[in-house]
Amino acid sequence: MIILGIETSCDETSIGLLQDGHTVLGHVIASQAELHSEYGGVVPELASRKHLEAFVPILDEVLAQAGEDKSVIDAVAVAHGPGLIGSVVVGVAAAKALAFGMNKPLVGVNHLEAHVLSPRLEHQGCAYPYLSLLVSGGHTILTEVRGFREYCVLGQTRDDAAGEAFDKVAKMLGLGYPGGPIIDRLAQTGDSNRYNLPRPMLHQGYEFSFSGLKTAVRNLVEAPDWSPEDIPDLCASFQAALVEVCVKKLRRAAQQSGIKRISAAGGVACNSLLRQELEGLAQDLGGELFIPSPKFCMDNGAMIAYAGYEAIVAHQISDLTLEARSRFYLTEIE
Ligand code: KG4
Ligand code: ZN
Repeated sequence: MIILGIETSCDETSIGLLQDGHTVLGHVIASQAELHSEYGGVVPELASRKHLEAFVPILDEVLAQAGEDKSVIDAVAVAHGPGLIGSVVVGVAAAKALAFGMNKPLVGVNHLEAHVLSPRLEHQGCAYPYLSLLVSGGHTILTEVRGFREYCVLGQTRDDAAGEAFDKVAKMLGLGYPGGPIIDRLAQTGDSNRYNLPRPMLHQGYEFSFSGLKTAVRNLVEAPDWSPEDIPDLCASFQAALVEVCVKKLRRAAQQSGIKRISAAGGVACNSLLRQELEGLAQDLGGELFIPSPKFCMDNGAMIAYAGYEAIVAHQISDLTLEARSRFYLTEIE
């Protein structure tokens, strides 16, 4: 079964062609980061226009990589939310047109669900049940994944998402957008013990809050003795605080549930310290860690195709009334 997966929720236009759930035949992620970097964040109108321009050339490129034409596609999966509504609409309209034109099934996929399931694309050992730490630009969600569409959300962020905190701190430091990879790189030369930053809600349950951490960074940057030479130390200290909170919550969830398979997904799962700390956690638990390759952590079409694959196996097909949704919680998936 060959599934085309379409992702346009935010600022990546991405299409993947996936065979039998695990073989990626073609995959392109076109990032708009450069377009938005001068604004320090995504500009919705620019994003949707860019998706529209990029879609057909990217589809052609994906098919060329696979050495196939459209006739091999058995089903079309699309992320229909949550996301920037103008951007999601472009992907949904394109998916409907393709599915209708080719007379193939259309499968609507929740973008968050696709991230949560993404470790299973490459790692067949990531069997149900497992714990998922989804850390992206828009979301921070800890979930007990009991099965396909059996998601027990343990906790989420009350304010900023993990990636958003990285991006806002990078903006304060004048480092550019997206901030996560830049902070990750600078932190490698910094001292993470230099600044004692808050670890919000470290000892409380499964909820997250990163706005206080961000404010603590702002206070340091606005202090009279601040010097740009301190940037690597501040990046390292900030990253250490955020990662410690994420790992601690996942550890608590593993200990309380007894589940030893742990996973991380979303753009922040590319973070080198987070990956390293999660390896250590998996070892402590005597369990296993599943993290997608970086290209499948960030927003990507292959994960949408994968979630579409699981939906088809479970006979969950959509129809042409499928709607684009700006808000769409994991717990609202039917
Ligand atoms: O999953 P994603 O591509 O898009 C959303 O669904 O939000 O995640 C993007 C986020 C951005 O906030 C970016 O700064 C962050 O992932 N990110 C990182 C790293 N690479 C990307 N954050 C920390 N360390 C990284 N290496
Ligand atoms: Zn995402």
